[in-house]
Amino acid sequence: VIVDKGSYRHFMAKEIAEQPEVVGHTLARYIDMAAGRIRLPHGSDFDFSKLDRLAISACGTAYYAGLVARYWFEKFARLPVDIDIASEFRYREPPLVPGSLAILISQSGETADTLATLRHCKAQGMKIGAVVNVPTSTIAREADVVFPTVAGVEVGVASTKAFTCQLATLAALAIKAGRDRKVLSETDEAKLVSSLIELPRLMVEALHLESEIERLAPVFAKADDVLYLGRGTSFPIALEGALKLKEISYIHAEGYAAGELKHGPIALVDENVPVVVLAPFDPLFEKTASNMQEVAARGGKIVLLTDEEGAAHAGETLATIVLPKAFAFVSPLLYAVPIQLLAYHTAVFMGTDVDQPRNLAKSVTVE
Ligand code: G6P
Repeated sequence: VIVDKGSYRHFMAKEIAEQPEVVGHTLARYIDMAAGRIRLPHGSDFDFSKLDRLAISACGTAYYAGLVARYWFEKFARLPVDIDIASEFRYREPPLVPGSLAILISQSGETADTLATLRHCKAQGMKIGAVVNVPTSTIAREADVVFPTVAGVEVGVASTKAFTCQLATLAALAIKAGRDRKVLSETDEAKLVSSLIELPRLMVEALHLESEIERLAPVFAKADDVLYLGRGTSFPIALEGALKLKEISYIHAEGYAAGELKHGPIALVDENVPVVVLAPFDPLFEKTASNMQEVAARGGKIVLLTDEEGAAHAGETLATIVLPKAFAFVSPLLYAVPIQLLAYHTAVFMGTDVDQPRNLAKSVTVE
């Protein structure tokens, strides 16, 4: 397959823009559109009803997709999830249950630590599920069941569209698990599925915020440190936001659970520290808003990512980026878009090599 940048300046820009389309393609593999229900792809069927636990492992951005999925599997399927980065998972020697499921997540399907964890889990008698983007990869070949993502070829070293496609796949799997385990009713499932079907359209709207986000690049380019805060499923997206910025702009950034702010990171906050707050107007909004006030009181420059209702309830910020209103379930996929754009435009403003950042490799095939 030959991939080119088309009219885009960088592969990363193209891959960010492609997300509504490839997330749509991925969802189409997992949703029976006519029935409004989850239907796993042919050959990828799995029955979650008998599981006591689920193990998830991955590296980098794929690990953050796993972190979001933990919230979903636990909430929608009441399935306890054990998750760790692959380089820690197997050395931790967690007690693994033979016959239970381990899900490995990997864009390339070749990441050394993820593959080693797969083999470790397999040797312990676990079933192996793999959420992978490259169907011919080693991880896909060695898994018992492959849950494909349909992101297409991803060239930019910093993962973008592969991440949202991993989330889409994991969202579908969590709903399927909820149905298998009789936690979700048919009506619950239909509601969750319809919010997934609506998602690509909302992602298009989120992409329209690009010029607004680009205007923030000079502020971020000047910063030595940036904090990203979120609660619930917005917390892993805060981690991903910080990772994206670090990877391509080389600015030090940290993602934090908003509630942990006062246990350390608030000591860093002054007028030179931009603080990106991810806070859709959900039941956790008020809590995050009060963390935001703590930042504002110390002169921190707040960039709030929220929806219209959140914006109406927020205090003063440096910038408030208003995303379309979405069902809370899908907000991590939607909020991934502005944090990618923010990292991208900051890096472009600074003139770094966006697609090939220094010291990083697309796929880390050595431990
Ligand atoms: C590298 C890439 C990241 C990616 C990670 C895991 O660090 O730069 O973008 O998230 O590897 O890669 P995988 O192919 O296993 O998803």
